[in-house]
Amino acid sequence: MTLIRKNFDVLIIGAGGAGLNAAVQLAGADLRVAVVSKVFPTRSHTVAAQGGVNAALGNVDEDKWHWHMFDTVKGSDYLGDQDAIEFMCREAIPTVYELEHNGVPFSRLDNGRIYQRPFGGQSRHFGKEQATRTCAAADRTGHAILHTLYQQNLKARSHFFTEYFAIDLLQDQEGGVTGALVMDISSGEPMVLNARATLLATGGCGQVFRTTSNAHINTGDGMAMALRAGVPLQDMEFFQFHPTGVAGRGMLITEASRGEGGYLINKEGERFMERYAPSAKDLASRDVVARAIVTEVREGRGCGPNGDHVLLKVDHLGEETVARRLPGIRETSKIFVGIDPAFEPIPVYPTAHYVMGGIPSDRFGRVVAPARHGPEEVVPGLYAAGECACVSVHGANRLGGNSLLDILVFGRLSGLDILDYLEEHPRHGQTDSASEEKAMARFQRFDREGDGIPVAELRAELQKVMEDHAGVFRTEEIMQEGLDRMRSIRDRLDEVRLKDRSRTFNTARVEAFELENLVDVGLSIVTSALHRQESRGAHSRPDFPERDDRNWMRHSLYFLEDDRLDYKPVRTRPLSVDSFPPKERVY
Ligand code: SIN
Repeated sequence: MTLIRKNFDVLIIGAGGAGLNAAVQLAGADLRVAVVSKVFPTRSHTVAAQGGVNAALGNVDEDKWHWHMFDTVKGSDYLGDQDAIEFMCREAIPTVYELEHNGVPFSRLDNGRIYQRPFGGQSRHFGKEQATRTCAAADRTGHAILHTLYQQNLKARSHFFTEYFAIDLLQDQEGGVTGALVMDISSGEPMVLNARATLLATGGCGQVFRTTSNAHINTGDGMAMALRAGVPLQDMEFFQFHPTGVAGRGMLITEASRGEGGYLINKEGERFMERYAPSAKDLASRDVVARAIVTEVREGRGCGPNGDHVLLKVDHLGEETVARRLPGIRETSKIFVGIDPAFEPIPVYPTAHYVMGGIPSDRFGRVVAPARHGPEEVVPGLYAAGECACVSVHGANRLGGNSLLDILVFGRLSGLDILDYLEEHPRHGQTDSASEEKAMARFQRFDREGDGIPVAELRAELQKVMEDHAGVFRTEEIMQEGLDRMRSIRDRLDEVRLKDRSRTFNTARVEAFELENLVDVGLSIVTSALHRQESRGAHSRPDFPERDDRNWMRHSLYFLEDDRLDYKPVRTRPLSVDSFPPKERVY
């Protein structure tokens, strides 16, 4: 087989908001930009983001980026890097205006300005009162943004490799990244894409859990590729469970439902968030609300015949508001539970939603990792942005509305930084033949047919193990068992077989590659969680119920080799303002 090889200046893997916003920045620069996506670009998971994007525009009430920064640091349970957070909150404002100018159809206030709604964990005057900061296009904001960015990329003539699956990164002898080996899903043929700079923008990994708001495609591909290239994953123990997934199914019911005035009740009809967060109530930060719901259910106050969920009420808002502000969740509820929320409450329960950790990168998107045998440094030619990256602006818990913001700000900055990088690196690197052979070996890994373990069976087992052993509350005993079971799944990957290759679509091969990625990423989550002996943000341990700033104000780094862990300090110094010192986090 002759391996097809193509040269580009920039390779972007992933066509969600981060990848497409990076590509738009490169548009005017007369560069060859390749965007690889395993699905049609507008099916990337950004399309599913509902409630909106945070920016202190002050269209409804006075607002300041500094208050947004305070909320984000507090929301992160003080694990976020304050320089990066300051940067993101300042950049939010021009970023949203750039989107508006590029054509994003935001909802509008009566005075014509961009519509903004309250979201969880937001405040004005550093915690004093609720802010109204989340810019929205009804409850389909990600959809509006993704389609606009895709259109901008078509205009810019970005070269799309649609329905191509990235197998592995290619590297030179020093570990610098020189592109990737990809597979054309329709033909099953491999192809080498050489690039002077490669951006991983592959999104999250929610498919490690059984009940998730994430699409089937969110399998941590970029994170696993980075791991295999020797780059660690940072802070993977911090996984966000969105409080309001459709009970038993996991689809997202946006936080905007509560932002618009909805609230949660238990089986006694009690508005229970008043007990857990007396001031913010239903708009406390997500980790707080998710824990409250699980506690209500565990203590016997859950709703339904099995007492296994709570109810989200928006019916008091009136049909007109539900239709205008929340049309997407109305449709979701009708389809998946046969309930029209304009008239009846929706059964909800926390659902795996977002990984705060990821590929360690700086605010310019450059991947920063300990060198093979030395201190931390930038990995030449490699960038990461969006959910697959960890900048870290979310720390131990992300605020709703900061995820679209993250992908847009850091996607944009990655694109701009790549322009500078290319000026300094005018030539392609030389791929090490050993790196290409390793990638080819992975490409052939699941070419085996016969009666081994089916991919779907192992994937279902993995998702159940993760749900049972790395959920909202975790103890040493539960996680240790989870780790043992995950290792057993990793051992059994070698027994995975595709039934009859001549009758199997290449999508089955893709699912096998995805399974391997899920295993690597799942192991990074359980290993990092087991070792962090404190409760912080989304990482909640009944056996270590307190936050421990003396020992654990540090980021974890998980390496694939020997499931090794290392740690590095949190950057507590912002760029231009005073630092927010850790405080007790109450809402
Ligand atoms: C939501 O609309 O609740 C999800 C948006 C987000 O996770 O930021």
